[in-house]
Amino acid sequence: MNIDAVLERVDRETGASLKQLKEYLRIPSISTDPAYTGEVRRCAGFVEKRLRAAGLDTEIVETAGHPLVYGEWLGAPGRPTVLFYGHYDVQPVDPLDEWRHDPFEPTVETGRRGERIVARGATDDKGQSFTHIKAVEALMLETGSLPVNVKFLIEGEEECGGEAIEAYVRSPAAERLGCDLALVSDTSMYGPGQPSVLYGLKGLLYTEVRVRGAARDLHSGTFGGAVANPLNALATMLARLRDPEDGRILIPGFYDDVRPLAAGERSAFAALPFDETKYGEEIGATALWGEAGYTTLERVWARPTCDVNGIWGGYQGPGAKTVIANRAGAKVSMRLVPDQEPDRIFRALAEHLRASAPPGIEVEVDHLNGAPPVLVDLEGPLVDAALMGVEEAWGRAPVRVREGGSIPIVSTLSGVLAAPVLLIGFGLSDDRLHAPNEKMDLVNFYQGIRTIVRVLDRVGSVDPGA
Ligand code: BES
Ligand code: ZN
Repeated sequence: MNIDAVLERVDRETGASLKQLKEYLRIPSISTDPAYTGEVRRCAGFVEKRLRAAGLDTEIVETAGHPLVYGEWLGAPGRPTVLFYGHYDVQPVDPLDEWRHDPFEPTVETGRRGERIVARGATDDKGQSFTHIKAVEALMLETGSLPVNVKFLIEGEEECGGEAIEAYVRSPAAERLGCDLALVSDTSMYGPGQPSVLYGLKGLLYTEVRVRGAARDLHSGTFGGAVANPLNALATMLARLRDPEDGRILIPGFYDDVRPLAAGERSAFAALPFDETKYGEEIGATALWGEAGYTTLERVWARPTCDVNGIWGGYQGPGAKTVIANRAGAKVSMRLVPDQEPDRIFRALAEHLRASAPPGIEVEVDHLNGAPPVLVDLEGPLVDAALMGVEEAWGRAPVRVREGGSIPIVSTLSGVLAAPVLLIGFGLSDDRLHAPNEKMDLVNFYQGIRTIVRVLDRVGSVDPGA
């Protein structure tokens, strides 16, 4: 195969790739909001169209939730099979007034590292996963075939829990997903120009807590002091989740299944260049704070965390209103690490919250979504070949990193597929994922396409039976 010709084609066609990416980004595929169900489906149709244009056989797989898009090309018998995973859904866009442009009107801006495309989903995960499709298309158009067999599974519920793909991957229909290597691009690089391969993702437990006191709101003078105030109670309950001094989580049994950081891993983290001051400046934080006894990288990558994501209740209008509101609530999430199980942690959390509520306060805790944590093995000839392709593309060997975010299906894929799962992201930590003005640097988009071309070329030269 003439890989240079394929790479030249990628370079020649950056304009068309960008145009198609914009078309993709214009579809508001917000999976968590039922008002966008039709748009999510339209987005699945767009992905299917692009897979077909790349020469794959495709199918929209109906589920109990948003559809999955499946595609395959199996014209390389005896060669390895690569399964690509990505997600075409995006996060909500609020707060809307902080966007420089309409979040679904992708805009190319010039930033300090060159051009970038700004839109919801630019990096997470439309821009990143589109690199897979464009790489396969370039190979197919230039050479008439592919160096490997490929399968694509692209979901529309990653940002809201991913129940449909979970059921699918565990069903008999998933037999078709058999592969030698799975590839995911939905993560960030350690720094600009520094290719990275992830070997760990955190798990997640996301809950909603509601408290209720009297049957109605009460005058805070007439009744204040006579009953527990639901808002005070909620604040106390939340405060008791975490030690205010050392940042340890106080739920009994919470750390029982936490795999301690191995000495080798701690020294590997410590060997990575990391500037605490720059890190703080980049996010506009005046100080960093976390669990005592661990570095920032250790806290984010390998230690479990607990955060209130939202909180409500009582009077929030102008001026003063003297009232004891009768209900309040909060969204509480925990990022988990191996070998914590979301369901077990949920029970421990609910029990702890109930136990710290004062008399007269009714507590309800709902389990909204969850994802198990995962660590993958980066071993074997296919992984080595793929990482060689990454190195060729960037002129630099990828660093091995972990991540504080979650991709729910990765743990299931790594358990169900008898194949390694490679997480090679093309994002950056300043891409503002889930926030206003999400962006992806265009160099990383194009470089991502070239990387996948080289990875497939390298993987194609490995005998999958060996
Ligand atoms: N792409 C992210 C995960 C991620 C974030 C990887 C940052 C690397 C760096 C993914 O789409 C995501 O946001 N996942 C959710 C999952 C949750 C909603 C179940 C997350 O981590 O919050
Ligand atoms: Zn994502």
